[in-house]
Amino acid sequence: MTDASAETLEAQVVGAVEQRREQVNDAIVADLPVAEPERLYEAARYLLDAGGKRLRPTVLLLVAEALADVDPEAADYRSFPDIDGRPVDMMAAAVSIEVIQSFTLIHDDIMDDDDLRRGVPAVHREYDTETAILAGDTLYSKAFEILLNADAPADRVVEAMDVLATTCTKICEGQARDIEFESRLDVLPDEYLDMIEHKTAVLYGAAATMPAILFGADDETVEQLYRYGIDVGRAFQIQDDVLDLTVPSEQLGKQRGSDLVENKQTIITLHAREQGVDVDALVETDDVEAVTEAEIDEAVAALHDAGSIDYAKQKAQELVERGKGRLEVLPENDARELLEGIADYLVERGY
Ligand code: IPE
Ligand code: IPE
Ligand code: MG
Ligand code: MG
Ligand code: MG
Repeated sequence: MTDASAETLEAQVVGAVEQRREQVNDAIVADLPVAEPERLYEAARYLLDAGGKRLRPTVLLLVAEALADVDPEAADYRSFPDIDGRPVDMMAAAVSIEVIQSFTLIHDDIMDDDDLRRGVPAVHREYDTETAILAGDTLYSKAFEILLNADAPADRVVEAMDVLATTCTKICEGQARDIEFESRLDVLPDEYLDMIEHKTAVLYGAAATMPAILFGADDETVEQLYRYGIDVGRAFQIQDDVLDLTVPSEQLGKQRGSDLVENKQTIITLHAREQGVDVDALVETDDVEAVTEAEIDEAVAALHDAGSIDYAKQKAQELVERGKGRLEVLPENDARELLEGIADYLVERGY
């Protein structure tokens, strides 16, 4: 980094995410105002206002910065220079990604029967299931309306919309597999990797490619950035599966052990089963409210002993290393270094 201070790259990444998060939060309020009927829009904004790490919009903005090679301190994301120096609203794209993220979370909590999200009651608990479904649907379509305002040349906006639409279809495909796997004991590692690519990694792929498309980058750059997103996005989901077991609900902002209760197939349970662990007997209850901390602790101890948690962490690290290698298409600058750092952060984070 140009900053020669003793600050570690991880601290710089945390600072960079924090700084962009605030700008993204302001932009969400501006681009997604509460309209009539108020209850619907309040439910749609509820999780967005509750918090969230904003990792995907941060990746999007950093890719834009890396490509334009601009001083981040001076960057105005609403009027960001493209390859020809013409202004593009990169923040609109960043907001659209986070709005899609929130839509998927609202519906995911209904499907996973989870009551806690971002440290607050899930939307279907705070409101009701009907309102939560509609709030998710509203966010889904609003994301495209917001992206339409990116102000880039029309062919690039169409291409970015195509990426976002394809991404949403894939997320639904991945989520359908995730649910299907709950009742299967013979899921193969490649099936799991394909499932998490669809339900989670494609949104990181979209976050990394949409700014490149809007900027006017060449096809090879867009392709490598997509691969970066898929690699680090898969690593991110593996870490999410680890955190589900290892981090207290208060720190996580969602219910610890939910995956075991819901019989989710993760890389951890697949590995444990291979080691002879009777994974399905680890947690008997299928009610997330009834499961005890002691039950989860015991299950996690068995998974630890089987080496399954370490195995998952190692797989995530391998994906991160591969993902970082894809960034060679970008100019060497601070933003690129932060994108490498964020890849590490995705698997080192504690929530
Ligand atoms: C949660 O994503 C959903 C997954 C794909 C695992 P995050 O952990 O990024 O959630 P927020 O946006 O920070 O709440
Ligand atoms: C998230 O998978 C997938 C989404 C598309 C939201 P999870 O079901 O593991 O996400 P969390 O743990 O509830 O955030
Ligand atoms: Mg879930
Ligand atoms: Mg889920
Ligand atoms: Mg999870």
